[in-house]
Amino acid sequence: AEPLRVAIAGLGTVGGGVIRLLEVNQALIERRAGRPIEIVAVSARDRSKDRGIDISRFQWVDDMTTLGEIEGVDAVVELIGGSDGPALALARRTLAAGKAFITANKAMIAHHGLSLAGVADAQDIPLKFEAAVGGGIPVIKGLREGAAANEIKRVYGILNGTCNYILTTMEQDRRDFADVLAEAQALGYAEADPSFDIDGVDAAHKLSILASLAFGSELDFEGVATTGIRHLIAADISEAQALGFRVRLVGLAEADGDGLLQRVRPCLVPMAHPLAHVSGSLNAVVAEGNFVGRLFLQGAGAGDGPTASAVVADLIDVARNEYGPAFAMPVGSLARPPRADSGDR
Ligand code: HSE
Repeated sequence: AEPLRVAIAGLGTVGGGVIRLLEVNQALIERRAGRPIEIVAVSARDRSKDRGIDISRFQWVDDMTTLGEIEGVDAVVELIGGSDGPALALARRTLAAGKAFITANKAMIAHHGLSLAGVADAQDIPLKFEAAVGGGIPVIKGLREGAAANEIKRVYGILNGTCNYILTTMEQDRRDFADVLAEAQALGYAEADPSFDIDGVDAAHKLSILASLAFGSELDFEGVATTGIRHLIAADISEAQALGFRVRLVGLAEADGDGLLQRVRPCLVPMAHPLAHVSGSLNAVVAEGNFVGRLFLQGAGAGDGPTASAVVADLIDVARNEYGPAFAMPVGSLARPPRADSGDR
C-alpha cells in the first residue's frame, strides 16, 4: 500500500519522540494503519543543533511554513508551538494545500481552532490535535468518540504536568516553588515560556478545548477564569495536608444554567478523590456523562514519549482515513457559549 508521507515541523522534545516512535514501532504501526507511515521532510528553527537523532535521511526544508506544499507530502505534523507566528502560518498553508494537519499546539487550537476547523471540515481533510491536551492520554478521542453519545455534565482535571510536578514535589520535599520549577524545566515538561504553565494559561488553553468538545460549544479561552500557582508556598501545602487535602491545579468546565462555567485554579482536593493521587507530571481528566457515568482518564501529560504516542495515534487515524469534523460536529453547529459570570476573573 502507498505510505502516508509525513513532514514534521519542530524537532524539539516531542519531534524527536515522534521520529523514535515511528522507528521503534514501525512494524506494528504499519499493520494497524494498513500502510507504512514515513517521514519524508523535516524543518526546525536551527538545522545544525545536536539533537541526538539522525535527520540526514529526511529532506530538510528551510521555510517551515511551506512543508504542506511539498510535493508528495500527505500530512504535516506541527510541533513548533506558539498560538500565532510560524505555527499558524504553517497550519493555514497546509490546509489551503488540502493536506492533513496534526498538531500538539494547544495554544494555537485554543485561539484559532475554529477558524482552522472551518477550513479543514469544508474540504473534508483531517485536522487533529490529540497531543494538545493531556499528553499521551486519549482524552480528545475519549470525549469526541468514546463519550459521544452522552450529555456531559462536567469535565475537569489536572491539565498541566509542570504544575502537578511542582505541587507534588513541594509537598514531598517541603520546598518552595521557584527551585522546583527549574527541575520541571530540566525534565522537558515546561513550556518555552514557563509562565504559561505556572500562571494556569496552558491549563486554560487545554480546558477550553475540552469544554468545546464536551459541550458542543465554541471555543472560549477568554472565558476561562484563570489563577495559577505562583503565589503558593510550602506552608500552604503542608497546612492543606494537615487538614486532609492535597493542592492541585484543577481546570473545570460545567454547564451552569444557560452558561458555561470554565475555571482553572489551585484547589483543595480531598484525599478520597482520585485527583489527589495524581502525582508528578501525570495528568488526569474526569468527565461525567448522563449514560456512561464518571470516566477517569489518567496518564503522562507531558514528555516526549507520551506526547509522541498521541501524535502518532492521530497519524494512524489519518492513514486509515478515519476522522470526522475536528470538533466532533460541524463548526457551524457549535453553540456560542453564553458567558457564565463566575465572579472572580
Ligand atoms: N507544559 C505542558 C505541561 C506540556 O507541563 O503540561 C504538555 O502540554
